[in-house]
Amino acid sequence: MLKLINETTNYLKKEGFDTPEVGIILGTGLGLLTQEIEIIKEISYNDIPHFPTATVEFHTGKLIYGILAGKKVIVMQGRFHVYEGYSLQDVTYPVRIMEKLGIHTLLVSNAAGAINLNYKKGELMLIEDHINLQGGSPLAFKGVETLGERFTDMSAPYNKDINATFKSIAKANSITLHEGVYTSVVGPQLETRAEYRMLKIIGSDAVGMSTVPEIIVANHLSLKTAAISVLTDECDPDNLKPVDIGEIIAMATKAEPNMITLFKALIKQL
Ligand code: HPA
Repeated sequence: MLKLINETTNYLKKEGFDTPEVGIILGTGLGLLTQEIEIIKEISYNDIPHFPTATVEFHTGKLIYGILAGKKVIVMQGRFHVYEGYSLQDVTYPVRIMEKLGIHTLLVSNAAGAINLNYKKGELMLIEDHINLQGGSPLAFKGVETLGERFTDMSAPYNKDINATFKSIAKANSITLHEGVYTSVVGPQLETRAEYRMLKIIGSDAVGMSTVPEIIVANHLSLKTAAISVLTDECDPDNLKPVDIGEIIAMATKAEPNMITLFKALIKQL
């Protein structure tokens, strides 16, 4: 994998992706942040050597390099999901590239369902910890020890200082920012009522189909990481209505300005 990583990284360096400091992964329905970036270069995933190619229709699928809040950032507009048929290694390949290019911090966003029913759709949740229910690890491959510690510590996968800063920014801007445990499932089907009950019992506050693989690899690479969920639906097993994916995306878009405020202010303070 190292050879491929070096080839991809060299290509991006040649294209002008010059020592970004912060990496950002934007989730479903959360592309507006890119309008705030002074874009220096953007490249479609399809044109990047060894990158998985973007498939899901809602994703524009491009890597953006530019300046945001005074920092050099690299932004993934659209991410890869296991439910699209990619392996966990594919899904996390871009994180390895961003690290190789020089980032020290990775910020992740996603759309998630609220398992904790005190949390309402349209609100944000800072991820404090996670549960991996994707049935595998992005670190389970031959040679992983050449890229980082195989037995990666996960005692504090989300950076405490960054989370504290996020909380103070939220307070200063009167933004509701819950905190909780995010559980990742494979999807793409939504959960049954019984599954929502189980997710609650095991300690989840939110559920989604992403983020955890990227966070695991970011920790493998000793990056500072933080992630925020936009809660798009309320997963009440006793009152479950059929889910409307259009409504989920619309809700993500509605909550997006608050997420942009948090990300921009945080990056400024990094
Ligand atoms: N389940 C899984 N993923 C999701 C959900 C959900 O309820 N909402 C948004 N992403």
